[in-house]
Amino acid sequence: MENFLFIAFLFLAVAVLRSTHGIDQSPKGVEKWFMELPQEKVKLTKLHFYFHDTVTAKNPSAIQIAQANITFQSPTLFGLLRMMDNPMTIKPDPNSKIIGRAQGIYGSKI
Ligand SMILES: *[C@@H]1O[C@H](CO)[C@@H](O)[C@H](O)[C@H]1NC(C)=O
Repeated sequence: MENFLFIAFLFLAVAVLRSTHGIDQSPKGVEKWFMELPQEKVKLTKLHFYFHDTVTAKNPSAIQIAQANITFQSPTLFGLLRMMDNPMTIKPDPNSKIIGRAQGIYGSKI
């Protein structure tokens, strides 16, 4: 039974490798592949907004919710997690018109 599973896994691995081998996976290669799909219709949407992530003010828009033991020894704050409710505005000025909010969790990983 173990041999059968191993052989089945091997076939699957070879099938997966063969299906991706030889395909140009660079950004240009993927775009070319995408544009050649028969049912493809090009639709372009450009969104332009300013995202304000305030972590140090009196009323921050993002707060720390978790950290790793090494977070504050790391120059990049590795392991830091924050929950955000950040305004998105039409201009760089944070007091300009708010057109949405970016809500969620982000972390530092580099
Ligand atoms: C992280 O720090 C806590 C408190 O000092 C300690 O109990 C824990 O073992 C540490 N975890 C790791 C993975 O070092």
